[in-house]
Amino acid sequence: MTSASDSLDLDALPEPYRIKVVERIRLLSREERERVLREAFHSVTYVNSADVFIDLATDSGTTAMSDRQWAAMMTADEAYVRSKSFFNFEKVVQDILGFEHVIPTHQGRAAENILSELLVKPDDVVLSNTHFDTVRAHVENRRGVALDLIGDALWNFDEQQPFKGNFDLEKLRVALEHYGARVPFISITISNNMACSSPVSMENIRQAKRLADEFKIPILFDASRFAENAYFIQQREPGYAKHSIREIVREMFSYGQGCWMSAKKDANVNIGGFIALRDEALARRCQERLVLYEGFPSYGGLARRDLEAIAVGLEEGIDEAHLRQRTGQVAYLGGLFEQLGIRCSKPFGGSGVFVDLQSLYPHLPPERFPDVALGCDVYREGGVRAAAFPFALKTVDTSGKIVTREFHFARFAVPRRVYTQSHLDYVGRVMARVKENAHRNQGYRCTHRPEVLGHFFAKFEPLAAPPANQ
Ligand code: F0G
Repeated sequence: MTSASDSLDLDALPEPYRIKVVERIRLLSREERERVLREAFHSVTYVNSADVFIDLATDSGTTAMSDRQWAAMMTADEAYVRSKSFFNFEKVVQDILGFEHVIPTHQGRAAENILSELLVKPDDVVLSNTHFDTVRAHVENRRGVALDLIGDALWNFDEQQPFKGNFDLEKLRVALEHYGARVPFISITISNNMACSSPVSMENIRQAKRLADEFKIPILFDASRFAENAYFIQQREPGYAKHSIREIVREMFSYGQGCWMSAKKDANVNIGGFIALRDEALARRCQERLVLYEGFPSYGGLARRDLEAIAVGLEEGIDEAHLRQRTGQVAYLGGLFEQLGIRCSKPFGGSGVFVDLQSLYPHLPPERFPDVALGCDVYREGGVRAAAFPFALKTVDTSGKIVTREFHFARFAVPRRVYTQSHLDYVGRVMARVKENAHRNQGYRCTHRPEVLGHFFAKFEPLAAPPANQ
């Protein structure tokens, strides 16, 4: 039997849901937006969400939950010990990911904290395609070194490599040869958020596993965005077009000893995370730390209703119609930017559209903060919030020497199931204004930068008057 949609252009299919609950959003006047920016020290981190019209700062924990998730939350069992909601959650994680031991945490970084405390010693070297910044911070907090062995294609926004999130396998080999004895585990981030949310191919995971076996080092996945990665494998990797997302997910995880996940991404919830492992002894040790930091092993810092929401959200997260629409929204927004001549990382990835700041602000060197310019201009022109931070990664050169490289981008993250195509069209129109006026922005001066988390909480002043009202 063929469905009605088979004869239609699938890329043009609308959202696979209808809206049952709405939340009001409000566009402030241009004058008000100018005032908000001044009061926020020209940093979108200080802008109240109530003053933002379309918030693309992150897709993390900003998902609209489904009616099924809310319904499951109402029927949760809030018992402290051995709640039925824990078992529902555990079973879904086991079924989908294939790891036996499941440990809930309140979000991704709580899982990272526990695993790094148990696995990373001073001077250890953790190898990854690219660490997400909280993961890197946890490795460094244990006085370890976090190396990102991403391919050079990352720096070329235009290069159409379908799996830009891949390990550069040559760099991985060099790093293993030089630092192998100090490597507690290899971490594969799927999809690779800091690398423009680009996916990692199954072939690359397989090759990384081969090298890991050669050096007898376990693989752990940062699984926060695993479903999107599986979808991109199905869509882009030869041989996988006929595999279900579920099968692809199982194969990806078959190459690892375990994973951690921020459920705030591909499990479609507002809060939650977990660790999932094959090794019972390691799982027990994680549970011991869990009781100290998070809570009892059957809730890990969450209400049991949150576990129910994750269980349903994980199932919904691997639904192909959902993944097609989600990744399709990102590509649609990216397409609008491209039509305006704004350079974006191609092909489009998972969490959002990654824009080359230099293409918009070629006249602003890094010390005049083109990232701040973009944040301000996007908010000023249309009440839209996007995030732009410089990101420094450590990698190896061919001789094994550790070298630091910077990567600058702005991310327009698309929250799951939140905005419609007309919201995205509006963002496209705002970006047309941003592009038109970008040359007038003379950049910023940093007036305050706290030592810790400076890139989040820095304050700025414009170097010249902001562009005049249009
Ligand atoms: N790993 C990846 C790949 C992530 O994208 C994030 C969070 C984390 C781990 C940490 O999880 O926030 O639950 O503690 N990314 C968010 C973002 C913050 O905006 O991309 P968390």
